[in-house]
Amino acid sequence: MVSVESGNPYLELLKRVLTNTLFEQEPDASEGSTPRYVQAAISHYQQGPAISMLPLARLDNLQSCIESVVADGVPGDMIETGVWRGGAVIYMRAVLKTLGVTDRTVWAADSFEGLPEPDPEKFPLEAASFNSAAMTKYYKRLASALDEVKRNFAAFGLLDDQVRFLKGWFKDTLPDAPIERIAVLRLDGDYYESTRDALVSLYDKVSPGGYVIIDDYGEDSWTYCRQAVDEFREQRGITDPMIKVDAPCSFWRKSVAG
Ligand SMILES: C[S@@+](CC[C@H](N)C(=O)[O-])C[C@H]1O[C@@H](n2cnc3c(N)ncnc32)[C@H](O)[C@@H]1O
Repeated sequence: MVSVESGNPYLELLKRVLTNTLFEQEPDASEGSTPRYVQAAISHYQQGPAISMLPLARLDNLQSCIESVVADGVPGDMIETGVWRGGAVIYMRAVLKTLGVTDRTVWAADSFEGLPEPDPEKFPLEAASFNSAAMTKYYKRLASALDEVKRNFAAFGLLDDQVRFLKGWFKDTLPDAPIERIAVLRLDGDYYESTRDALVSLYDKVSPGGYVIIDDYGEDSWTYCRQAVDEFREQRGITDPMIKVDAPCSFWRKSVAG
């Protein structure tokens, strides 16, 4: 059994519940998308009671980014683009609560009907993954309804007016999203276009000193997410260093110049 360690006991316990790791070991994401990992992830996250499919290390990273912007007075809200059952955004709201922050909002952006279909000509790896047996039969293309996500927030007593939902495809909801400033931008929309659409619409709202987290930057067997990020950084002349959280996930802190 895994024990709940140091730090804030409420957050430690919450993290374990959200990731279904109170009594079970999490699948080893550093294995990459091997058949063994895919099977373990389906059984642990999709068929189990997990509310987030993030490994614990990524929730730790999210927590430290939020704590950092609050400690440094970096203005802005928190947003995740791609929330599935809502675990990471629930965690964002919980971290703000433990810090006594009442003037920042957590935004949850998702279709709430699963992944968009990638164009097989432009994005063959993504299209193959989208149509794979694992994705259609087990992951159900990651569809999770808005009502289910709201219920999950409510179960932890965290559904309040500091949480707002943006329902629809990113290309439709993000350009005019009523968000003024962002302190933590977490991108978990999996695919090239989902990643690019979020960066194009939201990056300029990220405050200097804010964080941009890319959940799938290190994945290259089923997504072109990294290409979307690299192209965007190059076009915008962003040189802030990418920092690895684990093999798939990386982030950067936006400098004043960035
Ligand atoms: C890997 S899941 C997110 C996992 C989640 N962050 C967690 O804590 O477990 C990817 C999510 O992105 C959403 N998504 C991907 N591309 C999208 C797009 N272009 N517009 C809206 N939602 C999108 C899917 O519906 C899905 O819920």
